Amino acid sequence: MNLTTTYLGLELANPIVCGSSPLGTSIDTLRQLADAGAAAVVLPSLFEEEIVGAAQAQMAMEAQGAGFAEASSYLPDPAGYHVGPDHYLDHIRAAKEAVSIPVIASLNGTSPGGWTRYAEKMQAAGADAIELNAYFLATDPGETGEAVEERTLAIVRAVKAAVSVPIAVKLSPFYSSLSHFARRLEEAGADGLVLFNRFYQPDIDIENLDVVPNLRLSTADELRLRLRWVSILSSQLGISIAASGGAHSAVDVIKAVMTGAHAVQMVSALLIHGPEHIGRTLEAITFWLTEHDYESLAQMQGSMNMAKVPNAAKLTRANYMKMLDSWQQ
Ligand SMILES: Cc1cc2nc3c(=O)[nH]c(=O)nc-3n(C[C@H](O)[C@H](O)[C@H](O)COP(=O)(O)O)c2cc1C
Repeated sequence: MNLTTTYLGLELANPIVCGSSPLGTSIDTLRQLADAGAAAVVLPSLFEEEIVGAAQAQMAMEAQGAGFAEASSYLPDPAGYHVGPDHYLDHIRAAKEAVSIPVIASLNGTSPGGWTRYAEKMQAAGADAIELNAYFLATDPGETGEAVEERTLAIVRAVKAAVSVPIAVKLSPFYSSLSHFARRLEEAGADGLVLFNRFYQPDIDIENLDVVPNLRLSTADELRLRLRWVSILSSQLGISIAASGGAHSAVDVIKAVMTGAHAVQMVSALLIHGPEHIGRTLEAITFWLTEHDYESLAQMQGSMNMAKVPNAAKLTRANYMKMLDSWQQ
């Protein structure tokens, strides 16, 4: 069965991509993922804070060397200062040497600035593409949605200007007009979107009056939000789309591809079941496609996007009341 797909202009053997996570930290695990059939891997994110922090540390050292004892208290904006956590670049090089599948670097930040030029170093180290994670919680009542979006667009433009490899933007679902913002991202040069980021919601410790961060892995229930938006956006945009969040099984991958995903990222399922889960999932996809007389994965890609579903209203508001009525105990 031909499971090939094109994501961000990269020819992938199948749609399953290992998403950004600690799974990409060890070279051994990367090899296991590739052996199990992962079509590509996204490395864990390098954060704006890490890049800026390393630049500041370097400047402080240089300033001290030059005799400025309290240099760190009046450091200039590190934008433009070309240093950074080199171990990330070493890891890209090691990953590229270890596996032959595309290696996607992940850059995670929210404010436009010199740190975005780090993308250039990632490309030089061998990254086949760059995933930009625009994780941001807008809490300032004085800032408009437009201003929040404009900042992400500026980052996309800056990274696009710095590299020639494709870039994907990993978004949260929380925009008041996602279709409009997605179109602006496409115009700004994004080669693809990753739908969606998972917001890690901290819990409240009622005994100690504390906020406790506890990371929970996803369940397949989270896929539905992705299916709806992949279906809508894949019918509106000409760029690649990856589903991320809640894809655990072959059926989940099939649904995401039917809605129009060019790739499906998996993390939680691989953390739970191990890299071999990819091989089993690919076998099950192949079996299902064969049973249903498909000749290739491409044949079903986008067959359930918003332009093609028999009743598109079912994806939007019109079905809302009907769905509430359908509840039975
Ligand atoms: C332990 C862990 C670490 C993660 N680290 C990153 C990261 O560094 N950058 C990023 O963009 N996403 C990160 N993610 C989010 C995943 O890439 C993915 O979007 C999310 O887990 C939803 O997919 P899933 O349902 O397949 O787990 C992380 C997820 C987990 C569980």
